[in-house]
Amino acid sequence: DKSPPEVAAAGKGEFAHFMLKEIHEAPRAVARTLEGHVDWSRGRVAEGLLLPGGQRRGLRRLWLAGMGTAYHACLLGAWWVEQIAGIPARAVLASDFRDDPPREGEGERGLLVAVSQSGETADTLEAARAAQARGIPVYALCNVPGSTLARLADRVLMTRAGTEVAVAATKSYVAQMVGLLLLALALAEGEEGRVRRSQVLDGLASSVEAVSRSLALEPAMADLSRRLVRERAVYLVGRGPDHAATLEAALKLKEVAYLHAEAMAAAELKHGSLALIEEGTALLALSGRAHLAARLASNLREAASRGADVFVWTHLDGAPFQAARRTYRLPDPGHELLAPLVQAPPLQLLAYYVGLGRGTEIDRPRNLAKSVTVE
Ligand code: G6P
Repeated sequence: DKSPPEVAAAGKGEFAHFMLKEIHEAPRAVARTLEGHVDWSRGRVAEGLLLPGGQRRGLRRLWLAGMGTAYHACLLGAWWVEQIAGIPARAVLASDFRDDPPREGEGERGLLVAVSQSGETADTLEAARAAQARGIPVYALCNVPGSTLARLADRVLMTRAGTEVAVAATKSYVAQMVGLLLLALALAEGEEGRVRRSQVLDGLASSVEAVSRSLALEPAMADLSRRLVRERAVYLVGRGPDHAATLEAALKLKEVAYLHAEAMAAAELKHGSLALIEEGTALLALSGRAHLAARLASNLREAASRGADVFVWTHLDGAPFQAARRTYRLPDPGHELLAPLVQAPPLQLLAYYVGLGRGTEIDRPRNLAKSVTVE
């Protein structure tokens, strides 16, 4: 058996695959990532997560960099930092940051948040080094203690998802989202936005429960997987952060189900991709924001009227998705900003079951590696 030692140590237990086991470990990953990182009695994140006072107050901009799933977490992280802390933030592929780092002066009072499950991804390490070479401090989010990234960063927030064996990132992605929310809260200060911050914290307080309830969609996802198992391609849409979440869901379908899955911004559908919609084309949509539901519904109607078979995931009450063949009800995330936390596990389960139906090597997909340590 050529399994690395941690595989033998972790064990799949009652589960057929590590991926399935790890999806089910998401609630625990959330709980452990919150542990010790929040001072619940004072309603704020723990001191340890904060940047030194001067550095935090002076922050002008953030870059959030990662690859693969970590990059998708960065897209959400940038949104959270802007929404919660009001600091301009941009998600960037670590490879792009490394290729075109900030110019002289541009990085002043900036911060690079480097996100990596393994802490060993070559592109992400190079991005971190490029930042430091320009005097930009690096705040790392990673899941492996003592990893190269954790050692070289100026500050580290450990996600505590536990060992992840399956190549496809699942619980670590959920933990990264929690970590980035904590970071956004840590960067926010002052009276402005205080109410919102305490609402987000309240939401986080119930997020273990919400993530756990999202797993109840497993039988429905297994069922839907039978509808998708023979497709040649599926499309996924959402608006803003929901689009980021569809990018990650599409990545899972590609990685573990070998199914061509393309995510796009819902508003972009009619600017080209609508030409691909035929009778029976599967279109998956995420709707996590109440004020955008009507606009998304209109995008979906346009696709459905051209024959698309539309499936929607939402926690919203009374959402106007008559165009959908099926709407999957997600648990209340506690706060709208936290919707991506409950969207992830069901879509991961869907990818898992499509992969199972297609007979792929779910835990170790062809051509892929858990950690890409070469550029
Ligand atoms: C590889 C893995 C992906 C992962 C990416 C970044 O491609 O297969 O699942 O998202 O690397 O990995 P990291 O360890 O930096 O998060």
